[in-house]
Amino acid sequence: MTTSEATTSDQLDDLPLPPGPNSYPVVGNTLGFLRDPFEFYDSLGDYGDVVSYSVAGEDFCTLLHPDYVEQVLVTEESKFGKSEFVQDAGERFIGNGLFASEGEFWRRQRTLIQPAFYRERITSYTEPMVDFAASAAKSWNDGETIRIDEAMKRLTLRILSKTLFDLDIRNQQSAIRDAVQAINDKGDASSVDAFLPDWVPTATNRRFRRATDDFDDVIETLIQKRRGEPPGDDFLSILMHATDEHGEGMSDEALRDEMATFLFAGHETTVLALTYCWYLLSEHSEVREKLNHELDSVLDGDTPTMADIEKLEYTDEVVREALRLYPPAYVVFRQTKEDVEIGGYRVPAGTTLTLPLFVIHTDDRWYDDPEQFRPERWTTEFEDSLPDYAYFPFGGGPRHCIGMRFANTEIRLVLATIAQHVEFDCHTSDLDLRMGTTLEPTNGIEMTVKKR
Ligand code: HEM
Repeated sequence: MTTSEATTSDQLDDLPLPPGPNSYPVVGNTLGFLRDPFEFYDSLGDYGDVVSYSVAGEDFCTLLHPDYVEQVLVTEESKFGKSEFVQDAGERFIGNGLFASEGEFWRRQRTLIQPAFYRERITSYTEPMVDFAASAAKSWNDGETIRIDEAMKRLTLRILSKTLFDLDIRNQQSAIRDAVQAINDKGDASSVDAFLPDWVPTATNRRFRRATDDFDDVIETLIQKRRGEPPGDDFLSILMHATDEHGEGMSDEALRDEMATFLFAGHETTVLALTYCWYLLSEHSEVREKLNHELDSVLDGDTPTMADIEKLEYTDEVVREALRLYPPAYVVFRQTKEDVEIGGYRVPAGTTLTLPLFVIHTDDRWYDDPEQFRPERWTTEFEDSLPDYAYFPFGGGPRHCIGMRFANTEIRLVLATIAQHVEFDCHTSDLDLRMGTTLEPTNGIEMTVKKR
């Protein structure tokens, strides 16, 4: 060991552990967390910006300051791995896909996959995004009541199935749809199931295993079929033909894991981003009017294209603000690989770190009226004044969301297309949320369609 390393580790040993709520023997803070995870997170700020506690036998530390988010995701990212707790929960479905993998394997996969998300590629997916959104809007009758969250699920899964697999799954009983539902149920943080290994025979686990087996069969059949076909434009095809600098491609197992990962990471997140946009727009008529005005003047009744997106400035602010208030990926998890100093505290190796976006995004140190939906706040001056990582809906650093451009394009195009045809009256004035794999409405959201 060099002198400087010795000094550093000596200094680390002298640092105090982070403060946190009182914990009970054996169960730690599990009961408080399960009773009301929102209240639990709310109470953490009383202890400072680095707060430790334990849930279900795991040591946790929550970071509430943008500087510490940046330290973990960017400046000292090599000291933090993906959290085992999250890897174990998703292992059976997403395997060693990009979200969970680490080290050299992750780096190679990320390099192989990156070109599939280049702008030209995403541009080629805009047609199904806009066409499927227009056909959803046309299928609704004036005065009809719909579940907007379910409608967005059907629409975005149709878009994702087309772009990922070149499959149109509309109206079909689909193993892809079932797998997406099962993994989301499995991830419900307010349920004990989220903390149990897959082999424990609970109803959720049984459904999860069955859905994952069916999904595997579908993907295996698709991969075999595609091996005999000329290359297509969908992600599966692109990844099947991607090669590294030695001319080596991906194994069938790696392909399966990546496709499952895109579904896991890319579906529910986009559903929720859109659902919350519609919810917020229906609650704020003045914002909706401004949005209508922009869509009418920029698009003049035409369907939006990739090139229109940058002209739709207010639409962009609406989406940003919705992702601030309701970040679908509401917590980013990491695990310390070694003892680390964060904010003057020693955070021991093996601690699960949580970076709660939904808390940091509504901190009045960075945002005026933090709970208010105010798209207009997103001026250039405001963005320049905002500390880095006070807003990070797509994560940050080397592991930031690879699907960010895809999602940003899809959300804006779907929003602009549907909003040209309809408005919504919401029946739910107080949203009850639950911490699942994503931050989702507990009971779904009903809305009445008003044709424009
Ligand atoms: C509104 C939509 C979305 C949101 C809010 C979102 C958010 C995030 C966040 C916060 C991360 C970082 C996780 C971490 O650091 O642990 C992430 C990673 C990831 N996202 Fe997304 N995402 C969205 C859409 C998508 C889409 C559409 C896809 C794919 C089609 C996708 C694929 C991924 C993958 C593969 C990773 C892991 C990247 C890596 O570790 O190299 N996401 N996403």
